Amino acid sequence: MSGMSQLLVEDRLFQAPKAFSKKAAISSMKQYKAMCQAFENDFDGTWARLAKETLYWKKPFKTVLDESEAPFYKWFSEGTTNASYNCTDRIIKAGLGEKTAIIFESDAGDVTRISYQELHERVCKFANGLRALGVGKGDRVVLYMAMSIEGVVAMQACARIGATHSVVFGGFSAKSLEERIVDVGATTVITADEQMRGGKQLPLKAIVDEALELGAKSIVKNVIVYKRTGSETVPFTPGRDHWMHDVSAKQSKKCEPEWVEAEHPLFVLYTSGSTGKPKGVVHATGGYLLWANLTMQWTFDLRQNDVFWCTADIGWITGHSYIAYGPLSVGGTQIVFEGLPTYPNAGRFWDMIERHKVSIFYTAPTAIRSLIKASDLNPDTHPKNYKLKSLRLLGSVGEPINPEAWMWYHKNVGGEKCPIVDTFWQTETGGHMITPLPGATPLVPGSCTLPLPGIMAAIVDETGQDMPNGQGGILVVKKPWPSMIRNIWNDPERFKKSYFPADLGGNLYLAGDGAIRNAKTAYFTITGRIDDVLNVSGHRMGTMEIESCLVAHSDVAEAAVVGRPDDLTGEAIVAYVVLKGARPEGEAAQKKALELRNWVNKEIGPIAKPKEIRFGDNLPKTRSGKIMRRLLRVLAKGEDITQDTSTLENPGILEQLKHAV
Ligand code: WT7
Repeated sequence: MSGMSQLLVEDRLFQAPKAFSKKAAISSMKQYKAMCQAFENDFDGTWARLAKETLYWKKPFKTVLDESEAPFYKWFSEGTTNASYNCTDRIIKAGLGEKTAIIFESDAGDVTRISYQELHERVCKFANGLRALGVGKGDRVVLYMAMSIEGVVAMQACARIGATHSVVFGGFSAKSLEERIVDVGATTVITADEQMRGGKQLPLKAIVDEALELGAKSIVKNVIVYKRTGSETVPFTPGRDHWMHDVSAKQSKKCEPEWVEAEHPLFVLYTSGSTGKPKGVVHATGGYLLWANLTMQWTFDLRQNDVFWCTADIGWITGHSYIAYGPLSVGGTQIVFEGLPTYPNAGRFWDMIERHKVSIFYTAPTAIRSLIKASDLNPDTHPKNYKLKSLRLLGSVGEPINPEAWMWYHKNVGGEKCPIVDTFWQTETGGHMITPLPGATPLVPGSCTLPLPGIMAAIVDETGQDMPNGQGGILVVKKPWPSMIRNIWNDPERFKKSYFPADLGGNLYLAGDGAIRNAKTAYFTITGRIDDVLNVSGHRMGTMEIESCLVAHSDVAEAAVVGRPDDLTGEAIVAYVVLKGARPEGEAAQKKALELRNWVNKEIGPIAKPKEIRFGDNLPKTRSGKIMRRLLRVLAKGEDITQDTSTLENPGILEQLKHAV
């Protein structure tokens, strides 16, 4: 796939289908522009109106945006609310108690449905159980779970009692889990005995125990375990460990929500940055929930009879905003899926869309690309073998979608009648930022089109000056928005430096991506990260994080990690390693490379595992000792170096690093 070069000349335009626009919440560009204009005319007033119309406030707010401690912005300060109340009680009061909230499908294909009433009951009982264990407002609770109704219940229950949750993706290692538990200072961990993936039972509780042994046990008082597989071999420490069903068992179905201030941290979610240590992104209750709700209405145009399916995991921001909170806050019916897109075969998504009559489907380009490949190999898994006519809207998230994948998705999944919303956003933004509105925006494959109303996205140069359309630059947001990151947990200095850098004037939000606006349409195209962050299969990984992990291996002297374009995963991780001993060659090099790849897999998790490792006697460095990553990226692509290498201390090294072992 030719990726970027084709993307920049893309000029196919897909108008919003008339049938879609007719019923859509935002049905024309004229309406979109009027909404943007409302923010231009009265920024605070427009946000205030939306916040009042959208959420239940126990105590109304007076201030809309408080900039007094910028860039630590506050929204709706005096207001009090509760996320769980807004996602269950408020929906039931609107008469939707019997409506299906979640259709859960297990890895093996068993289906469980729960109504808003039932969800409410389970959240309340578990929330009461947490309170009985001494968990309350301001406490931090780490979740290490797989996709399940219980995972959503646990997040909602934390929100109900004002405990701040921090979900750690179930694919992270014990060490990564331990670091996050300790950094966030969690007193309680919620997990499952095991998880089911692709027919296999994989450990969760055993990894929690390992994390506790690594150091987290000095702060964790309770471990709550959802019994998923009932495996007999799962370790259990009486006194500290509790079964989730026991915690809820004798509790009341009523649970008075903890009315928290709008700024109360709803959750902390760790993500990779350009230094070795992951950042705990803090999100505030009121503003976050407002945007999760509004984007469900604007981007997904959600209606009462929709069946919504976001295929992300609750361990990522997408699963927070578009599974645990957004769909529930609008009273939607959604699918929660435990398994893999390729099990029992690569037709699983299409089969589920057909069986559950999914109308809005939201997935990642990586998944689409892997299913294209799978259907080439096994035509039985091609979407054309399934009845997908329930679909009315498709979405894409996590990485740029290449036009080829976009066209395939449009034709074969959407039957050429479903708009595709290519949603650009980040863990830090809380919800969508730049995305088409399906009933209004003409689509261009590979472009996330235009910012949502109220989002003041722009492209600037290194000094913060606006760039004209048609010229690439740095993507920024010029004004705060309600669901923006509030802080980095325990590290306000890093927050300021990472997101509001002084070079740009200190008041522009720096997304960390490059972008370009089309000279004619002003549409945005994201050109990729401008920092040392990689995007592998839609997962964010810091190169420094992998480097620190590699040098922590006793045989490694030095390491440099770069990304290389990959047809399937977007980017692939290539690591250049200098060993303490002699540079290995042939079979010895292969053995060592395998060992190091497995080491990263064990220390961080499978998503960080380098695709390729190359060994050198040294790394290419300038005379001042700076590693020339630019050159390493060229070599990783298999291209010849055409740049001047005369400033290199050791140009001879490049020859060694040309080839994979
Ligand atoms: C980074 C954020 C968005 C939630 C899931 C990932 C890249 C995300 C797109 C898109 C091009 C995209 C950016 C961004 N990205 N969506 N539609 N087009 N790039 O959240 O892990 O915080 O990663 O993902 O590089 O900065 P995340």
